[in-house]
Amino acid sequence: MYICICRQDTDRDIHEALAQGACRMRDLRERLGVSMQCGKCAECAHTVLKEACDACVSPACTKAA
Ligand code: FES
Repeated sequence: MYICICRQDTDRDIHEALAQGACRMRDLRERLGVSMQCGKCAECAHTVLKEACDACVSPACTKAA
């Protein structure tokens, strides 16, 4: 599902970025450009990030450190 229409980023893109250690909205903005144009995707992207982050078991995750 598309999360950011402006950048054509999907929930899968967010999950892949999270698996590579993008655990914050700032990380998503830097890696994917989420919410960098119109900003309408910010709340949805945050929701997807939070849900994925809560279930994350990535060794790249910094929240457990
Ligand atoms: S929908 Fe993401 S910046 Fe516009």
